Amino acid sequence: MGLKKLVVELTSLCNLSCEYCFKELGGSHLDIALLKRILQEARTLGASKITFTGGEASLYPQLDEAFRAAESLGYRYALVTNGWHFPRILPLLDSTRRALNHIFFSLDSATETLHDRVRGTGSFQRIMNATDLCQTYGLPFSFLVVLNQKNSGEMEQLALLAAQRGGAGIRFGHLLPTSELQDLQLSLSAEERRAAEAEARRLNSTVDIEVSFSAAASNNVPGACCEAFAGQTVSIDCHGRISLCCQLADYRGAINNKDIVADLNTTDFAHGYVEFLGRALGQRTRRDKALAMGVALAEHPCDFCISTMEKTTWRKGLLSKNIKAHV
Ligand SMILES: C[S@@+](CC[C@H](N)C(=O)[O-])C[C@H]1O[C@@H](n2cnc3c(N)ncnc32)[C@H](O)[C@@H]1O
Ligand code: SF4
Ligand code: SF4
Repeated sequence: MGLKKLVVELTSLCNLSCEYCFKELGGSHLDIALLKRILQEARTLGASKITFTGGEASLYPQLDEAFRAAESLGYRYALVTNGWHFPRILPLLDSTRRALNHIFFSLDSATETLHDRVRGTGSFQRIMNATDLCQTYGLPFSFLVVLNQKNSGEMEQLALLAAQRGGAGIRFGHLLPTSELQDLQLSLSAEERRAAEAEARRLNSTVDIEVSFSAAASNNVPGACCEAFAGQTVSIDCHGRISLCCQLADYRGAINNKDIVADLNTTDFAHGYVEFLGRALGQRTRRDKALAMGVALAEHPCDFCISTMEKTTWRKGLLSKNIKAHV
């Protein structure tokens, strides 16, 4: 237990516009002086890992300063990226490799056409080129895949592609929808999700790389089902605020910002972390109660969060008034 990791949204800027992206994209960058202060304060509380994300982190104007600050404070950092600008940031990754823990490339299909349909022409090839560069420079990488109706039949091909490209692993997650239509068209049913999670377990024992599932996997066990609920991972959005989770921060079309617990522009990290722990415990307790009452939605932890924290309009109805009064 205790603080271990920061997930830092460096910017809301992105060069792509993926059809299902849950981020409210824009042109905000995290203030670099604020970031350095946060990294220092969180380090004294025990944080030793950072995941840099966005938007597209490679577009952050002070990426160099951010990585070097992480390195000089003794952090190990990971980067989540669409891979488009990888050749440009490679020298920086290479020169901070002492601190570089992992690179995650987001991939939507093992097929160029299907991936590019979601992420734009040329995007698949850029990721493949980036994996070649990782191999040449000895940089560790994995793929992240958001499963949905279009690609859930491809899990084995995706895992084999990750292995063939020299990746250390592949992590699947479930889609968190941002519109009712998208929910209808792209989300997997509860049964389809469980089948996909079983397939990931099978692939993990048959393919020679680590095949895993994110915290979005079905789970009927009460308690800390994710690093945020355990108080271990704190997310910072590109405005310098602490959010309960990077999946909830700046959620496209959200009704409110219940995930935001503190503004680090005006509060120090230690105080923000205390607020964070309170919100994490509150949300965890809420889910535990819902599980005890047999609310099916609570078995899908991230879906439970986006519904109860009102990130979607239509899903509010999934909790009846009666149950809502209790959770
Ligand atoms: C918001 S992106 C930011 C990093 C970078 N731009 C990228 O695409 O890798 C971080 C991760 O969230 C995933 N993501 C985006 N929209 C999502 C959604 N609606 N549900 C689940 N994951 C999503 C992306 O595929 C990516 O792996
Ligand atoms: S998923 Fe990543 S690359 Fe795609 S639009 Fe969102 S932030 Fe940009
Ligand atoms: S959305 Fe909720 S359950 Fe999912 S990882 Fe974030 S805090 Fe945990």
